[in-house]
Amino acid sequence: MSLDGYVADKDGNFDWAAPDEEVHSFVNDLERTIGTHLYGRRMYEVMAFWETAHTLPDEPPQIRDYAEIWQAADKVVYSRSLEAVTTARTRLEREFDPQAVREMKAKATRDISLGGPHLAAEAIKAGLVGEYHFFVTPIVVGGGNQALPDDVRVKLELVDEHRFRNGTVHLHYRASS
Ligand SMILES: NC(=O)c1ccc[n+]([C@@H]2O[C@H](COP(=O)([O-])OP(=O)(O)OC[C@H]3O[C@@H](n4cnc5c(N)ncnc54)[C@H](OP(=O)(O)O)[C@@H]3O)[C@@H](O)[C@H]2O)c1
Repeated sequence: MSLDGYVADKDGNFDWAAPDEEVHSFVNDLERTIGTHLYGRRMYEVMAFWETAHTLPDEPPQIRDYAEIWQAADKVVYSRSLEAVTTARTRLEREFDPQAVREMKAKATRDISLGGPHLAAEAIKAGLVGEYHFFVTPIVVGGGNQALPDDVRVKLELVDEHRFRNGTVHLHYRASS
């Protein structure tokens, strides 16, 4: 996200947030523990790229590595409009049911991730999000798609922070009760 808290600017662009090799490798290690991704339809449409990323010629190792990590995880896509999913290990849900996700969390043996922000807003408001990871890009974009929703208050404990050579900062928080 930008320093002012947007994951995409007013034109829908987020090329300014593209991770370089160092940031990408860090993200790969972070996501290795994820067994299931819960995606809003718009985030899924961006992430579906990873289903075939390994087939592109001359991709650097961190791209091939992430493609493998992503393909190995299960995905649940929330959408009232999408007719069908196009990737393996992927299930489509028409409604985001907090109770069903609570039960999924209770049974899970691996981590569960959630994005983008519109779907995340519902999970945050339902008290389902235990940990937050932000990659803050050194840019102010002035408006766009907010990383965090309005009208929500969550007390956080800072678990870790990491500074990258390109000026990106990773912030890891845990929701505190
Ligand atoms: N900065 C970065 O590095 C980066 C990386 C990736 C993506 N992005 C940006 O982030 C955007 C994705 O985030 P987003 O917040 O716009 O969208 P999102 O949360 O991923 O998806 C929103 C969609 O999810 C579905 N949905 C939401 N709540 C639902 C519910 N209760 N029940 C059923 N379906 C539900 C709806 O799909 P339907 O409309 O189909 O019903 C809704 O339009 C991308 O488009 C891209 O612009 C940024």
